[in-house]
Amino acid sequence: LYAQKEGYRYFMEKEIYEQHKVLVETMMGRVGGAEVHFEEIEAGFLEGIEEITICACGTSYHAGLAGSYLLERHAKLKTNVAIASEFRYKEPIMRPSELFVVISQSGETADTLEALKQAKRAGLKTLAICNMDNSSIVREAHCSILTRAGIEKGVASTKAFATQVMVLWMLSLHIAKIRHTLLKEEIEGQIHSMVESAKLTRVDERLHERLKKLSKRYLHGHGFFFIGRDIFYPLALEGALKLKEISYLHAEGYPSGEMKHGPIALADSELFTVALMPKNLLYDKIKSNVEELAARDATICAITPEPFEGADDLVFTAARESYMEEFFEMMVVLQILALEISVRLGNDVDMPRNLAKSVTVE
Ligand code: G6P
Repeated sequence: LYAQKEGYRYFMEKEIYEQHKVLVETMMGRVGGAEVHFEEIEAGFLEGIEEITICACGTSYHAGLAGSYLLERHAKLKTNVAIASEFRYKEPIMRPSELFVVISQSGETADTLEALKQAKRAGLKTLAICNMDNSSIVREAHCSILTRAGIEKGVASTKAFATQVMVLWMLSLHIAKIRHTLLKEEIEGQIHSMVESAKLTRVDERLHERLKKLSKRYLHGHGFFFIGRDIFYPLALEGALKLKEISYLHAEGYPSGEMKHGPIALADSELFTVALMPKNLLYDKIKSNVEELAARDATICAITPEPFEGADDLVFTAARESYMEEFFEMMVVLQILALEISVRLGNDVDMPRNLAKSVTVE
């Protein structure tokens, strides 16, 4: 078993460290020059699509939420995101002009599979973004894009999430090309930052050491808030989920602009806030949200490339050119932070209590 971990303590750790490689795999043969091309998507498949609905569970749902920002921004398509177990029972309105996208690492999640069948019955075109070829979801969908993350053993998903977001980003550019919603130069710029993003997920040993040390401080307290804005909000949700899954500490992901509408009442020094403060997206807005929390004594760990006085702890990311590069860099920080807190607490990182890698019950 040790050999399979290739010297890493846990599969999750190995999978975090693999991300820069699997992201390159994900782009291979699909990204080139000024274009993103998916052989899997037949010509004409996306014709007549006016809206997208993404449906998934858990981490895959967070990837879907993140993707919705990119699809709306790049492809100018209205994008809805739904939790599969909710979607199925709400008597959803489905229009034939809607593309139904399911996201699943395993391809076997019962609620996601059933939602997919429901959409097919309603006559929608369906697309699966999945890590397992020949899985139930891949077999059911009209068309599938494989995420190529390789086998993921850690119950807490890391590299699968990274590749799901990458595929959605690529899909947003593929559709943008078809719909002429981005200029050629803009697509080229995005592709450049995709390649950079993959590189940025390579784990820096000093950063890992820093997070290992920091994890000592964040073991107590009455809970965590992970906050961010825009696409960093789904990343905050995912950061909180990672921590919950493997450390069993209460954590909540929240849009930072919404804290003042309730959660700020919880703020005191025992409330830990992990703030995602990218330089390239709404920096001043989130900064003032974090300052509001600091003024109420919350203990703040800011992840940012900018010097920021309001934080108790700073995790510096390198200043980057685009917010998506910052997204992938911060994703790794959140994964390692959760990992190290879990290790310090003596938990089974790869097999957290009460959880299963693939949930085939409804
Ligand atoms: C389980 C796993 C999660 C995962 C979710 C959805 O709950 O523990 O890590 O995100 O299922 O799984 P899927 O395979 O559909 O992505």
